[in-house]
Amino acid sequence: REIDVLNGPNLNLLGTREPGIYGRLTLADIEAQLKARAGDRATLSFRQSNHEGELVTWIQEAGAAGRAVILNAGAYTHTSVALRDAISGAKAEVIEVHLSNVHAREEFRHHSWLSPVCIGVIAGFGPLSYALALEALLERQRTP
Ligand code: DQA
Repeated sequence: REIDVLNGPNLNLLGTREPGIYGRLTLADIEAQLKARAGDRATLSFRQSNHEGELVTWIQEAGAAGRAVILNAGAYTHTSVALRDAISGAKAEVIEVHLSNVHAREEFRHHSWLSPVCIGVIAGFGPLSYALALEALLERQRTP
């Protein structure tokens, strides 16, 4: 199974960015952990962009190629109608993930434009959020 793991703005700063909220692992650490967990069960393409339009393009490409997506859209989660339209338009199978429990944080993080067009949402488990999303995608495939 081919899965694109797409990361939005500021996630390139993980490791030093608000470690009390996001932990000490870098995005490269999370990538390595996830690839180790996936083993030969999935081929992961792990990417990060600070640009909304680039994320839109990546979602479109994943949908067109039939690849599933694990998406941490960062702050665009709470602002981007464009990302939402990309998900619904591309008919991409997307799981929304967050490292932090967005519902336990500021009010403006409680709303996601993306959740209604995603298969599901996993938030609050740190890097394990990505791992749980991976398992969910693989399990879904086994028992569709
Ligand atoms: C985040 C939560 C968002 O509210 C925030 O803007 C991020 C990271 C998370 O993974 O917890 O950049 O998506």
